[in-house]
Amino acid sequence: MKHESVQNYYGKVLESSADLQTNACCSPEDMPEFVKRVLSNVHDEVLMRYYGCGLVMPLALEGARVLDLGCGAGRDVYALAQLVGPEGEVVGVDMTDEQLDVARAHQDWHAERFGFANTQFHNGYIEQLDELPVEAGSFDVIVSNCVINLATDKEAVLRGAHRLLKPGGEMYFSDVYADRRVPKAMAEDEVLYGECLSGALYWNDFLTFAKRAGFDDPRLVSQRELTIENPALEARVAPLRFNSSTYRLFKLDGLETACEDYGQAVIYKGTIEHAPHGFALDDHHYMETGKAFPVCGNTWKMLAETRHSAHFEFIGDFATHYGIFEGCGGESPFERDGSAGGLSCC
Ligand SMILES: C[S@@+](CC[C@H](N)C(=O)[O-])C[C@H]1O[C@@H](n2cnc3c(N)ncnc32)[C@H](O)[C@@H]1O
Repeated sequence: MKHESVQNYYGKVLESSADLQTNACCSPEDMPEFVKRVLSNVHDEVLMRYYGCGLVMPLALEGARVLDLGCGAGRDVYALAQLVGPEGEVVGVDMTDEQLDVARAHQDWHAERFGFANTQFHNGYIEQLDELPVEAGSFDVIVSNCVINLATDKEAVLRGAHRLLKPGGEMYFSDVYADRRVPKAMAEDEVLYGECLSGALYWNDFLTFAKRAGFDDPRLVSQRELTIENPALEARVAPLRFNSSTYRLFKLDGLETACEDYGQAVIYKGTIEHAPHGFALDDHHYMETGKAFPVCGNTWKMLAETRHSAHFEFIGDFATHYGIFEGCGGESPFERDGSAGGLSCC
């Protein structure tokens, strides 16, 4: 699908979240309290123009430099700006002028409300991140909310994001996935595409693309099935199923293709803000505060070699290999019902 068609959909056709025809934007009841709090400091016009499909607010962000791919009118940028605080920075990139106009129109309003100015917006294509005026290896976290499905070259987006992350940095993003490859005729339907359905990747192709881009062990944080609130559109996509999934992809050297057991364990100290009782790395790793938690080598690295390291004690090393680490993910998100505690929705 051409960029102009998507720009037209987000710049001219849609006027507010209420115009969307799926349940992609879910209700605020599902959000953690700290997210509700930061969203209460976001301007109403920005909130009205929110078209995301998940929650892209990972923990432990204070002081971080964050990039939002396809930031739209800036809801997540302004929420994240509060989480990174005055020492951090959030940069948004989008290709649609009308969306960026709304985001920029309220930059001063948010700076005054927060007591600091730490946001920037760039006009650009997420398939061409090397054309942005930002340094390679300069971001701690890259987020994106319901955008990569709209990209014309999804692998280029993942490769570009990998290049912009610092070592130990993380891509944490929500997007729509299909339970199979989307037929070409469906992918050419402008409304289905604009609604973030027919540009969606088949979930297993996404895992392949992510690994090829250098993100060796993608971790699913949460998923929920999308419903289409319009019977005519629903009939056009049948029998495909779509879901909104949130993944975290770490830029780490030495991740293995499978979860291997070296007899290691971690103990979460309970020190990450908003997570005093336990920390959820993904949908199958919830670590209770103070309790030794056995981990595979990859999970160990995701905690020891990232911004999370100060919040854990680490037991063991890589000296002895005990075989495969059983039950450490890898299957279809459509078969998984879990979500990392409190991180499930938008
Ligand atoms: C579904 S909306 C989501 C916007 C925002 N993330 C949010 O949660 O409200 C998709 C956004 O991605 C932008 N977009 C789509 N494809 C893009 C591309 N290839 N490069 C840059 N921005 C893109 C659109 O302009 C639109 O603002």
